Amino acid sequence: MLIIASANGAVGIDAAMRVLKNGGSAIDAVEAGIRLVEANPAERSVGYNGYPNILGQLELDASIMDGKTLNSGAVAIMRGFPYAISVARQVMDRKLPHVMLAGEGAERFAREIDAEQWASMLSEEVKAIWRERLIENSALLDIDDLDDDTALLDAVVLATDPERVAGTVNFIVIDGNGDICSGVSTSGWAWKYPGRVGDSPIIGAGNYADNRHGACACTGMGEMAIRACTAYGLVSYLRAGLPIGAAGHKAMRDLRDLDGDFIGGMNLIALDREGNHVGMTTRAGSTYIYQHAEMDAHREKEREFVEIPARWAGEERLRDDGSYC
Ligand code: GLY
Repeated sequence: MLIIASANGAVGIDAAMRVLKNGGSAIDAVEAGIRLVEANPAERSVGYNGYPNILGQLELDASIMDGKTLNSGAVAIMRGFPYAISVARQVMDRKLPHVMLAGEGAERFAREIDAEQWASMLSEEVKAIWRERLIENSALLDIDDLDDDTALLDAVVLATDPERVAGTVNFIVIDGNGDICSGVSTSGWAWKYPGRVGDSPIIGAGNYADNRHGACACTGMGEMAIRACTAYGLVSYLRAGLPIGAAGHKAMRDLRDLDGDFIGGMNLIALDREGNHVGMTTRAGSTYIYQHAEMDAHREKEREFVEIPARWAGEERLRDDGSYC
């Protein structure tokens, strides 16, 4: 039994391991682990109290994939329901003829299955940060006068500068039967355009699991993982016979081929069916966590750095510490 997760999964990994030790499935463990990250008010990129879109609305994306059956469920741009991973799981488990529900449809489904709904999804502190950042980064907007006719295009390009926005949680679990499940949940980019969907709910982009080969999940600039099909790409390299390290490098290097004005940071975690695992990043020093059933506590491990020069609105970006974002 093994769990790997992005570093912000530390608040949920003990609960996920307890599920496994009590005989629960990889799917149960992924859901249990991610729910605690979604409920963590200190986590600003997932679930309750994540940073909102440019209008100050919290829109959540999540997906879960069962590597045994290749079933999956996902929700996107869902408001008002903190446990996006549980709603995504229900999309998978309720035997709907669908894989992903978005927006009002996702919220309608969440109500129908009695998912937990919270009247307020943002603390006063986060609302104040949203206000402050928008005033600071996007003087183009009159924040007290936002309506359906407000032009947001230029303001979003300024506000979503990739040096300032990041996040998302990944969990990948192998259970006692050798079944693999992967899950991803996010509030997406801070200050994003309303309705923007990232890689997290898109099977093959931010999340993919297949018992026969392994699994991969991503954090970072979702648009890149969508364009490169990063999670499926890595698993397809495993399927072609590459070891996990080489598969990870190839999936990351595929991202270098992306052209265009908007290239930011990307990270992935992945494992093969034997439980060999890797973390990779374009941001030096970034870590992920893992725990085998025999371990008393999880360990943190540095991800392998893969350089992908970042660009924003046509300009190369270099961080103060010398690494690209
Ligand atoms: N990787 C999360 C997102 O781009 O929304």
